[in-house]
Amino acid sequence: MSRVLHRSGAVPPMAVGGEGIRLRLADGREIIDASGGAAVACLGHGNRRIADAIGRQAAKMAYAHTGSFISAPAEQLADMILEGSPGGLTHAYFCSSGSEGTEAALKIARQYFVEIGQKQRTRFIARRQGYHGNTLGALAAGGNMMRRALYEPLLSDAFSLVSPCFAYRFKHDDESESQYVDRLADELEAEFQKLGPDTVIAFVAETVVGATTGCATALPGYFGRVREICNRHGALLILDEVMCGMGRTGTMHAWEQEGVSPDVQVVAKGLGAGYQPIGGILIGGKIVEAIRAGSGGFMHGHTYQAHPVACAGAVEVQRIIREDRLLANVQEMGRRLESALIERFGNHRHVGDIRGRGLFWAIEFVRDRGSKQVFDPTLKVNERVKQAAVAQGVATYPMGGTIDGRHGDHVIVAPPYIVSAAEIDEIVDRLGAGVDQGLSGL
Ligand SMILES: Cc1ncc(COP(=O)(O)O)c(C=O)c1O
Repeated sequence: MSRVLHRSGAVPPMAVGGEGIRLRLADGREIIDASGGAAVACLGHGNRRIADAIGRQAAKMAYAHTGSFISAPAEQLADMILEGSPGGLTHAYFCSSGSEGTEAALKIARQYFVEIGQKQRTRFIARRQGYHGNTLGALAAGGNMMRRALYEPLLSDAFSLVSPCFAYRFKHDDESESQYVDRLADELEAEFQKLGPDTVIAFVAETVVGATTGCATALPGYFGRVREICNRHGALLILDEVMCGMGRTGTMHAWEQEGVSPDVQVVAKGLGAGYQPIGGILIGGKIVEAIRAGSGGFMHGHTYQAHPVACAGAVEVQRIIREDRLLANVQEMGRRLESALIERFGNHRHVGDIRGRGLFWAIEFVRDRGSKQVFDPTLKVNERVKQAAVAQGVATYPMGGTIDGRHGDHVIVAPPYIVSAAEIDEIVDRLGAGVDQGLSGL
């Protein structure tokens, strides 16, 4: 009998340990953690270097309030991830989760416009089928309809939602990729015009949409058009890379592959690899300068922001990624994962799409490939596949409501950056058996 409130009614098995890409359960089973939870454990489990760095910092100085003191780990972490001011991002604010990161991004964007005398900017435009966190501000910015539904009456109307760039589901058959991108750009432009372009603070999007649609990458040119529209109207671009960033797609930032950079970027999961809770925002120089020239400080804060122990863990994570040249492994193993998934599921009658980038892949399930017809949501196909895959010894990240919050099913495969070729093959083998078993009889 568990007294911890869990996500679903059934109490899941207890995880007690782990080494590398494997998790050990209390009942003795060993499970390959093929998605690092929700694309979190990017260096796998049981890494001694990270555990030692955390222990050393906890023993030395666990906490000092950031209103009065700075800490070496927070300074080191910012220096390391902002080296060379990637994309014009010059400063960081660290917090304890992706949702807190989104809240900070929304607030700093609003404060920026107040500082520069544009108080009339009070609106955000975001996208349906995107997710930015579960706190009320982040939930309002998100378009994950399943997670929003219960709380809809509490969500701010400062946010409006436009269509995602999700070609498999929403590009018309008689439309070229560039025509689809044009249609999305026209829709965004129309939303700016409807709201009044000088009332918009920012457009908010995941660079690669993670859990909600399952690793949906944007089409070439999409983010270029988005950036141009934001620039033309003097609005900011906030990119949420909580799931897809910090190396997951093969470059440190997913936006590097889109030819644009954001004004504010939200980061979390891969920043600390799950060894400590940590998230944050990376902030463009012009925003920091405006605050410095104006009120002087970011009007926001949390008790545990820039927590020294969490930052010390993240510093070690980032060192390992650099020293072990793990981005190269993400790219190489990503190509192997892509081919293995295509080989195993490319002709599967119930797999409609295989999509992703780097070590961030999803397979979307359909009842019928030709018509892309989905399974009845009450069958909970994604959950069936998840359970069957666990029975085969591999954990993935499942989600339903791929298309609109209710219809569609997918699972995400996002192995740690340390994964080997043999482990990729084992993951896809076991997942293949899990998918066949989970879908059997449907
Ligand atoms: C893209 C994205 N943004 C924000 C969040 C929220 O992060 P957290 O659950 O750490 O609050 C998530 C979590 O899955 C996410 O995937």
